Amino acid sequence: MKKLLPLLLSFQLLTFTIAKADEGMWLPMLLKNNYAEMQRLGLKLTPEQLYDINTASLKDAIVWFNGGCTSEIVSDKGLLFTNHHCGYGAIAAHSTASDNILDNGFWAKSLADEKDNPGMTASILVRMEDVSDRVNKALVGVDVKDAEAKKAEIFKAIQKEATDKTIYDATVKSFFRDNAYYLFVFEKFTDIRLVATPPQSIGKFGGDTDNWMWPRHTGDFSVFRIYANKDNKPAPYSKDNLPYHPKKFLNISIKGLQEGDYTMVYGFPGRTNRYETSFGIQTAVEKTNPATVDLRDIRLRDWKEEMDKSDSVRLLLSSKYAQIANYWKYYIGQTEQLKRLKVFEEKQNSEKKFNEWAKGKPEYASVLPTIENAYVDYNKYVLHRTYIGECVMASSIGFYALSFQDLEKALKAPKPDTAEINKAIRTLKGGEDAFYKSFNIASDQKILASLTEMFYKNIPADQHPAYMAEILKQKKAKTTKEIFEKFAANVFKNSFMVHKADVDKFLAKPDLKQLQNDPAYHFVKSFYDNYITNIKPHADAFGLINNAQSTKYIKGLMEMDPSKKFYPDANSTLRLTYGNVQSYSPKDAVTYKYYTTLTGVMEKDDPKSFEFNVPSKLKELYKNKDFGQYANKDNDINVAFITNNDITGGNSGSPVINGNGELVGLAFDGNWEAMSGDIYFDSKYKRTICVDVRYVLFMIDKFGGASNLIKEMNIIKN
Ligand code: ARG
Repeated sequence: MKKLLPLLLSFQLLTFTIAKADEGMWLPMLLKNNYAEMQRLGLKLTPEQLYDINTASLKDAIVWFNGGCTSEIVSDKGLLFTNHHCGYGAIAAHSTASDNILDNGFWAKSLADEKDNPGMTASILVRMEDVSDRVNKALVGVDVKDAEAKKAEIFKAIQKEATDKTIYDATVKSFFRDNAYYLFVFEKFTDIRLVATPPQSIGKFGGDTDNWMWPRHTGDFSVFRIYANKDNKPAPYSKDNLPYHPKKFLNISIKGLQEGDYTMVYGFPGRTNRYETSFGIQTAVEKTNPATVDLRDIRLRDWKEEMDKSDSVRLLLSSKYAQIANYWKYYIGQTEQLKRLKVFEEKQNSEKKFNEWAKGKPEYASVLPTIENAYVDYNKYVLHRTYIGECVMASSIGFYALSFQDLEKALKAPKPDTAEINKAIRTLKGGEDAFYKSFNIASDQKILASLTEMFYKNIPADQHPAYMAEILKQKKAKTTKEIFEKFAANVFKNSFMVHKADVDKFLAKPDLKQLQNDPAYHFVKSFYDNYITNIKPHADAFGLINNAQSTKYIKGLMEMDPSKKFYPDANSTLRLTYGNVQSYSPKDAVTYKYYTTLTGVMEKDDPKSFEFNVPSKLKELYKNKDFGQYANKDNDINVAFITNNDITGGNSGSPVINGNGELVGLAFDGNWEAMSGDIYFDSKYKRTICVDVRYVLFMIDKFGGASNLIKEMNIIKN
């Protein structure tokens, strides 16, 4: 028996590496251990070609886009590809009823046509560095209660050192739940212009119906450009700025992909929770996920009603609507798949193993029982926490009203300081335009009524703010619904925050009493202060315990299984995931091919549906088979494909790169059968959905007629 053990073990290891080749979002600096496996799967580049800080490498072409997505440089003039849904806010902001580029598309035919986007950023990683020792040293002897503040302080000091007297931007991030810390130094560009976008009937084809699903037919791309000053360095927008000359840009392959071909995705995944415990999963499945979905239903319903009435309201609300709808469907899918894939049971099994291993080890034996116990108290308050974000702050007026807090504080000071007051006024002035640009009174009044009614019904009465009693005193209301409708009507009739002109009048001569008595402000302050005083302390106490124990849990998991390669949860830092093009079977007897085509777009065409209305110009190109060099061997166009790469939100827009380092597609989504992927990677079902770069180029060239852009790129044909 004994002799067999090593053999068995090595066999297990082998199957582990093969089966899980696709799982993992790896830090590029630490890829050395994965390199042999990457080569086996089809990578032809050296580790230095992937990541190097001294000579140009692929990492220099990967750009963190506006703090939430990924983009890649595809020409020596700083041309950027990202997803349409990553450019959506900017595209919508440029759209008016008379120049509606969201619906009609936009193709800059010269640099002069490119559109400025105030506030937009694009950051390129300069270097990363392990700073764990320094952070850990600073934390020695620090009480858990003070650890977060101490950490923030040392992070700040490290960041300052890394950027002092440079043009750089830096951030320190925690990995493996505080088991390691890395510093990231960036060059952050702030003059980013919109170059091209397809109409949303292509860029968002399939809409919310197809979102998070395969088979997919969306041309989810948009094109931007980085501008720099005459020294090729980051600078605020100026008409004198020039296209950025990158250290590295990606060549584009239009050779096409086959099942099994090597692919890697390089980008900035936002957040995963792969080390989540069964207790956390139970809370999500039973409490927070369903509540988030129910609350979002209301916003989506009331916005949609107004958006359907008028095009200008639709343009006003489109971007907010898309954002809320995207994660509304995400939480539905996550809950469904956590249940279907029995992730709770899976986690329980591994926790059982951990507990057995931890027996008699003082550092680890109490880890999981302590977390479990912390959830008992937290679960009483967790819904309230969700409701603050998805209910109280989800009404636009409530969210906006809370931004007057600093002004109230300044006005209330025993000796009001004019400088403080003016600072608060300036901040409020700065936020005004952005708020009123996407504020729609009719829908938000309904939303405020329905959401506060939900709070009343679903949050335990002993957690309500005292102000709830005032709300309930509405005169002549017969039903609960009417009570909250009257309450909302009163807020919208009497708050000065409803109209920009009234806010301007108020800010010209701010008065403490007027602010405190404003019904929108009074509403949001009472709910928010109640949360801060009575609920947040429970959430904070839970957070402290859960974090400290999770640090030990992950450390223990690593000790328990020393031969396993661990990768850290996503945290908006640069990662690489590698694997292959791979079809899958979503259920018994059904197989999904690894790619879709323009023929499939035409099959889905439905002129009556906003989501599936194929533009006539695309139908024309299809009818004439006018595909140019982008056609596949069946004289069709490949639209999207799937791989087994491991991505999450934030990877949107990431380059999908072949074994030669060439761009073959842009990652843009995950698939329904693996919506639990942020918590648990299921290699049988989890896929990355990518738009084929040939569809992108076909659109730019044949649909948009922007041959000027095609000429900038380096296209590899065979
Ligand atoms: N689910 C995609 C993601 O989160 C976004 C897709 C955008 N399309 C849409 N119909 N909302 O990356």
